[in-house]
Amino acid sequence: MTKKKILVVYYSQTRQLSEIVKSLTRPFKKDSTVEVEYEELQMKEPFPFPWNADQFWDAFPESVLEVPFELEPTKFNADQAYDLVILAGQPWFLSPSIPINSFLHTEKAAKILKNTPVVTVMGARNMWLTAHEKVKKRLNDLQAHLCGNITLVDKHSNLISLITIIGWLFKGKKEGFMNIFPRSGVDDEEIRGADKFGETILDHLLKDDFSNLQEQLLKQNAVQIKPSLMILEKRGAKTFPVWARFIRRKGAHGDPARKFRLKLFAYILPTGIVLLSPVTALLTFLTKVFRKQYVNDQINYSSYTSLEPVS
Ligand SMILES: Cc1cc2nc3c(=O)[nH]c(=O)nc-3n(C[C@H](O)[C@H](O)[C@H](O)COP(=O)(O)O)c2cc1C
Repeated sequence: MTKKKILVVYYSQTRQLSEIVKSLTRPFKKDSTVEVEYEELQMKEPFPFPWNADQFWDAFPESVLEVPFELEPTKFNADQAYDLVILAGQPWFLSPSIPINSFLHTEKAAKILKNTPVVTVMGARNMWLTAHEKVKKRLNDLQAHLCGNITLVDKHSNLISLITIIGWLFKGKKEGFMNIFPRSGVDDEEIRGADKFGETILDHLLKDDFSNLQEQLLKQNAVQIKPSLMILEKRGAKTFPVWARFIRRKGAHGDPARKFRLKLFAYILPTGIVLLSPVTALLTFLTKVFRKQYVNDQINYSSYTSLEPVS
């Protein structure tokens, strides 16, 4: 009997996503009828972790405008067919992270993804919808069959997770502090429990039928979308490309000529978030109350993997 072949492509700076991938793929490794191959993406010029402020903001324009960078060569054999590809990545600035986007622009990715079932896995702070939408479109261009998505997020309030992620990304400190601030990132219990999604995926793979995979994953809470965060994210997603193009007109990644514009954005974005937060809170509230149907439709749409509106 020929074994089912699964390719797991992932990128993780902090190892959070590596741990999610490890838990999720545990059931695959226990099953002797499947063969799993892991491909950890590496940048030719790695992004730093922890970040410093300049490097962090300098990744903004190319993340948002989906500019691919050079990756180290990948090891998998693109001449063979895979029965399933798991693509595990994270959002950077409401867009697919540069390593994930770069992978999706390689010839090898185009070759193996064409006509292949794909399940996306994301580990995020809490704003991932726009990034996943971009991944969906790219996979569609590559004629891949996206049939499932699992996204794990930091479930603490938006403001709390915004504060704790600063310590994590800029100092490498994930632990909680001052008795009020919790550990940053996705809850460890949830990470360990990701194997339940792996079981569901495996079940569908062995039956050669992914048609209702996302339906089943949703029953396991593979995706949970908060209306207020979705509304907030949609607002950011409209302004980010304007800023990204404005900054990139001064130069490409690493060009000192764009430093002033990057600094301007780095000051205006957090100041805007704080100063406008009463207005944003009011607008979000009004949207939730007066555009209930729109909000529900959008949540429904983003919970699934199709590019068509869900009826
Ligand atoms: C440059 C950068 C931008 C990020 N932007 C977002 C974002 O827009 N939305 C979000 O939910 N998380 C964001 N994050 C958090 C990451 O998606 C991810 O959860 C975290 O960095 C953990 O890293 P890892 O998955 O590489 O291990 C960002 C992180 C970085 C480094």
